[in-house]
Amino acid sequence: MARVAIVTGGSRGIGEAISLALRDEGFTVVANYAGNDERAKAFTAATGIPTMKWDVGDHEACLAGCQQVAEQFGPVDAVVNNAGVTRDGVLHKMSFEDWNDVMRINLGGCFNMAKATFSGMRERGWGRIVNIGSINGQAGQYGQVNYAAAKSGIHGFTKALAQEGAKFGVTVNAIAPGYIDTDMVAAVPAPVLEKIVAKIPVGRLGQANEIARGVAFLCSEHAGFVTGSTMSINGGQHMY
Ligand SMILES: NC(=O)c1ccc[n+]([C@@H]2O[C@H](COP(=O)([O-])OP(=O)(O)OC[C@H]3O[C@@H](n4cnc5c(N)ncnc54)[C@H](OP(=O)(O)O)[C@@H]3O)[C@@H](O)[C@H]2O)c1
Repeated sequence: MARVAIVTGGSRGIGEAISLALRDEGFTVVANYAGNDERAKAFTAATGIPTMKWDVGDHEACLAGCQQVAEQFGPVDAVVNNAGVTRDGVLHKMSFEDWNDVMRINLGGCFNMAKATFSGMRERGWGRIVNIGSINGQAGQYGQVNYAAAKSGIHGFTKALAQEGAKFGVTVNAIAPGYIDTDMVAAVPAPVLEKIVAKIPVGRLGQANEIARGVAFLCSEHAGFVTGSTMSINGGQHMY
């Protein structure tokens, strides 16, 4: 029977590409999303991959969502914590809400989804968790204390949980994307984006599929000896 994977934020952007790559890898994929029903419907119509709506920052909603996936499709074998938001601003202008939203969704989401699925993976002796961090969690970024802290936290979370899963066949890894051509990056003002691209040695933004292929590898049988790692996919912008 096919293994079951949940991709959070899996109906658009990098998550959409991850959902498709995991399906190519043989997984039964369920794509979670937060609120963009129109995009989710279009995604399912185009791909046949089911979507389920819940807020990954909501602990109870994650437990209920993962249980529903397990009941409908089977035990959850792989989770890709891809859902993420930005609420940029320099510290002296950043509200507590902007700090808290980013921590709750980006970092809290990883905890909530792992709580809902990790024990089952351990018991069954096989599991894959891939957390999507960021170059800005590795290097920091002006105007992003919330996002950089959450993504840096994801990298620490990954290394700690990897140690807990290793003996039980559960690997936990992170990918730290550089700047990828999605709605999130389209929100960056054009002059700022031009300066960013000028600093990328390969001379362009990344494509969602270039992140997705890394996730597919980390979720595959071939990656059983890879755990606690952070794969940087950033066009050479930050060599960590
Ligand atoms: N794009 C980049 O350059 C870049 C670089 C480094 C890291 N990343 C990280 O890569 C991941 C994907 O980024 P992206 O550019 O593809 O973002 P995106 O285009 O803005 O898509 C974000 C996805 O996350 C979902 N989402 C947001 N809040 C959620 C919540 N509370 N619960 C469940 N789902 C939620 C959205 O759902 P709806 O469709 O319902 O809104 C959407 O599917 C994020 O973690 C981001 O931080 C991106």
